Amino acid sequence: MAQRNSNSGIDDLKSQLNIVDVIGRVVPLKRAGSNYKGICPFHSEKTPSFIVSDQKQIFTCFGCGATGDAIEFTKRYYNLDFMDACEKLGKEYGIEINFQKSSDSKEKEKLYAINREAARFFYKALTEKANPGYTYMKKRGIDDAILKKFGIGYADREWTSLYDHFKNKGIDDQDLIDLGLVTRGKDGKCYDKFRHRVIFPIINASGKVIGFGGRRIDENDIPKYLNSPENAIFQKKNNLYALNTTKSEIAKESSAIIVEGYMDVISLYQYGVHNVAASLGTALTENQARLIKRYTPNVNLCYDADPAGISAALRGIDILAPQGLKVKVFHVTDGKDPDEYAKAHGRDAFLDLVKNAPTAVQYKLDAASKGLDLTKNEDKVEYLKLAADILRRLSPVEMDVYVRSLSEKLKVSERAIMAEIEGGSTAQPREQAPLPSVQGESELFLSSTEGNVISALITNPDLTEELFSEPDIMESDFAVKVENIIFELFGTKGEFELDDITDRLDPEESQYLNEVLGGIHLAGKEEEVLKESIKKWKLDTLYKKEKEIVARMDLADESEIDQEIIRSITEEFIRIQNDIKKYGGRE
Ligand code: UTP
Ligand code: MN
Repeated sequence: MAQRNSNSGIDDLKSQLNIVDVIGRVVPLKRAGSNYKGICPFHSEKTPSFIVSDQKQIFTCFGCGATGDAIEFTKRYYNLDFMDACEKLGKEYGIEINFQKSSDSKEKEKLYAINREAARFFYKALTEKANPGYTYMKKRGIDDAILKKFGIGYADREWTSLYDHFKNKGIDDQDLIDLGLVTRGKDGKCYDKFRHRVIFPIINASGKVIGFGGRRIDENDIPKYLNSPENAIFQKKNNLYALNTTKSEIAKESSAIIVEGYMDVISLYQYGVHNVAASLGTALTENQARLIKRYTPNVNLCYDADPAGISAALRGIDILAPQGLKVKVFHVTDGKDPDEYAKAHGRDAFLDLVKNAPTAVQYKLDAASKGLDLTKNEDKVEYLKLAADILRRLSPVEMDVYVRSLSEKLKVSERAIMAEIEGGSTAQPREQAPLPSVQGESELFLSSTEGNVISALITNPDLTEELFSEPDIMESDFAVKVENIIFELFGTKGEFELDDITDRLDPEESQYLNEVLGGIHLAGKEEEVLKESIKKWKLDTLYKKEKEIVARMDLADESEIDQEIIRSITEEFIRIQNDIKKYGGRE
């Protein structure tokens, strides 16, 4: 079966790392018997319950349960995905990791490198001598430290400054054109795309420069902001501006403030609000919601206080909430946007707005009452219909809370409101979930279990139901994507064929899926294969947990850990043993 990423490089990396050193660089550790002890960086504690074992090469926290190897630690501590964590460790320790890169990812690396160089070029132009970009940013009150932090640059008025720079380095015209850095004129020559603009590099969560936004300096230029076009490395829908800089603050505060514009982020950051990122003037997407969810479940939407901002907030709620994010919404109460507000009133006033922001449901209810006079009976009736549509989608508990407060506010009985909610349910069909879309730079990979399960479902779609209750079995990004498509197709049509799935994949993805499926022959045993796969996955998960818990028990013994904790670990161990037996393991 085609497998695009090889693990051999990772095993090499693991064998050369020492976890005590990796962790010791950021967490002060003291020797405790044969292990090391420190204050856990993943939860707040006063007495150390975070143990690092030299011998076992694992860390484990008896306070919050965090546990894993050096790579896992790096992932969690720096909020990185697996590949990025490996890369970081490899770099720090000078260990070469041989990921087998596809030609596709080499191509991407090349484009990242060009963008990085362009960002450097623009940054130098803004910082090394007097220029209109610097003057403009100063006029807007931005400090040098912030210009540096966000790598803000300047594209000059000439026609070929950047192009000449790259020509001297021997870069292909086509790459520069694809990246939207230059454009080919009617005369066949290449010209810089960004001219006389302040440049905001857009950097993804892994620190790669994926695109640029250029703000006009001359208010007569059009457009106000010129952005990189979508290309192999830049998809607006998969990224949030500034997240690379602010993700750790977002995770630390467990709260993200999402604003519309580049300048909103920059300005809030300068005034001391650091847990912020921007959706760049477009409606939020599902992928952006998932991206935020990697760092926090709490999202505060703060869009401009104009009709466009209100409607974007309403749409944003419907994207974020279904992902299980807790959403609050507010608009600045003075000035056009967060930038102007922060400048006029400072950090604390802005944080007060965040603190007092209504929940998404309250915001929707308030928005529905706009233009209605709730002292008039007919408007009251109209409003209750709109409110019922909003409340219908809530959980029973939430519904209860809002029904009660509406009833008090409008002097209408709770029973009547409930009747409206229940009665009107045919008015609006449940919104259909948007199609699952490609996740950022997800690796194209299926495990053999995942391949088997997908193959079984395509041959016998009726089996899909079996999988509904086992949602975790798919682990790789690509398998999750295919599974989502299958669920969607099955849910709407009750059946599907391979073509229905590949129609919704990129060409490269569908080729890979075909390759994998071509190598799998289940010969009428689909149902058995599926059941076996589920069982195998359950057992694998249990064995993994068991191994973890055994290691924790050993460590607890060696490290004078509280008896109460040892007892609860032992109980968990027994539970796992029972589950293993239940799924027919180890017989
Ligand atoms: P705004 O028009 O609200 O601009 O667009 P802003 O962020 O307040 O910018 P300043 O303060 O006037 O400099 C919000 C966001 O929409 C996107 C940009 O990401 C911008 O930050 N936008 C806006 C564009 O991409 N192109 C445009 O022409 C305008
Ligand atoms: Mn603005």
